Amino acid sequence: MTLRISVIGTGYLGTTLAAGLAEFGHEVIGVDIVPEVVKKLNAGQPHMFENGLEHLLEQHTRSGRLRFTLDYDDIADWADVHFLALGTPELPDGSADLSQLHATIDALAPKLTKPALVVGRSTVPVGTAPALQERLRRLAPAGDGIELAWQPEFLREGFAVGDTLRPDRLVFGVQSDHALRLLKQVYAIPLSEETPVITCDLATAELIKQAANTFLATKISFINAMAQLCQVAGGDVTVLADALGLDARIGRGHLSPGLGFGGGCFPKDIRALAVRADELGVNVLSDLIKSVEVINSAQRVELAELAIDQLGGEIAGKKVAVLGAAFKEGTDDTRDSPSLTVADYLHDRGAIVEVYDPQAHLAPRDGFTQVGSVIEAVRDADIVLHLTAWPEFRYLDPAELAPLVRSKIIIDGRLKLHAPTWRDAGWKLVQIGRAA
Ligand code: UGA
Repeated sequence: MTLRISVIGTGYLGTTLAAGLAEFGHEVIGVDIVPEVVKKLNAGQPHMFENGLEHLLEQHTRSGRLRFTLDYDDIADWADVHFLALGTPELPDGSADLSQLHATIDALAPKLTKPALVVGRSTVPVGTAPALQERLRRLAPAGDGIELAWQPEFLREGFAVGDTLRPDRLVFGVQSDHALRLLKQVYAIPLSEETPVITCDLATAELIKQAANTFLATKISFINAMAQLCQVAGGDVTVLADALGLDARIGRGHLSPGLGFGGGCFPKDIRALAVRADELGVNVLSDLIKSVEVINSAQRVELAELAIDQLGGEIAGKKVAVLGAAFKEGTDDTRDSPSLTVADYLHDRGAIVEVYDPQAHLAPRDGFTQVGSVIEAVRDADIVLHLTAWPEFRYLDPAELAPLVRSKIIIDGRLKLHAPTWRDAGWKLVQIGRAA
């Protein structure tokens, strides 16, 4: 059954969700407050790089099932379901900034004169949803006819389209059978493909998302701490991760060692959970999260210091080629990018840093230069740092690059390069947690 759905907030989650819901056959209107974004999306063009999104947007803005607007009047009493896909950025104390959610409710609610289901998709501290529902009901003419549900999202940047069309699970935090029925209609297609569904209360739904991100971040920090141990003890952390991963109770996912996690989600979400856990007196959890963060930050410094060591302890005036600026491969997102932390660290110590990334465009910044190719980045470099695991870096020909550099030293910060190939071509390849 075709539903009318609004998606409020057209960041990478909202845009992908809106396009995905149109693909499921619904009529969808996306809402944003930025005129240029709405204009671009109505022309079928995404405002961020995300594999497969452009195709979906083009197709459904053309089919007429998907459009975007600045005007809440277009959606208020039109939609059966309103999805809230707003950002919850980090405040200076580490807690989540809910102001975009509040502003949206203040704009939407006074226009809701008919009963409707509002579904939160943002990552929020536990306890947020009931407070938002109270605000909605207070401000909406439809009053108690407005119901709030919570459906956490698990999209990964770079795989957002696939994760939307074929989710590995759906979590519905609901308060009534009516809300559950409506959500099942929204997701009739993935549900018909036997996607597992978890139905729960609002608090559990809010917590599932923060727990998932925190658990994944903990896996990464655990394997990075093991990499440190391998480094001193002489073990090989990738073999260790492979062996752990074969235990079905552990799994290999998010056990890849290297520079650690960054981006717009893990760092802020785990800190927000730590703040909320402290507020609620559950300090054991915030202590665990703080350790995860300490390990993660240390990886960046460790790698930068390793680069300095490789150059005999002095990096001032040396040219450093940085391969990768995005926080991970498959995205142009540089928020809290580990690779840029390393680049800044080395630049602050006097290095001449040149960065290449296949997708990310850096805002003009002090210090280091962004260049248009690997060749330009490595020309005359004293050291090369592989810091974002773009597949194209795995297929570089070390023999071709060798004559360009001043010294053939490469640090593989993501442990993804084929060490024998580089070493056979005369390079010194260094990986934390794997012996040379
Ligand atoms: C993450 C979660 O994986 C999604 O499920 C979630 O929906 C999303 O946050 C969100 O909250 O919106 P994302 O930030 O796109 O998705 O990226 P991941 O693929 O999880 O990677 C996060 C960081 O961890 C990256 O910097 C990546 O390089 C690093 N990472 C990942 C590792 O260092 N090792 C690994 O084994 C995996």
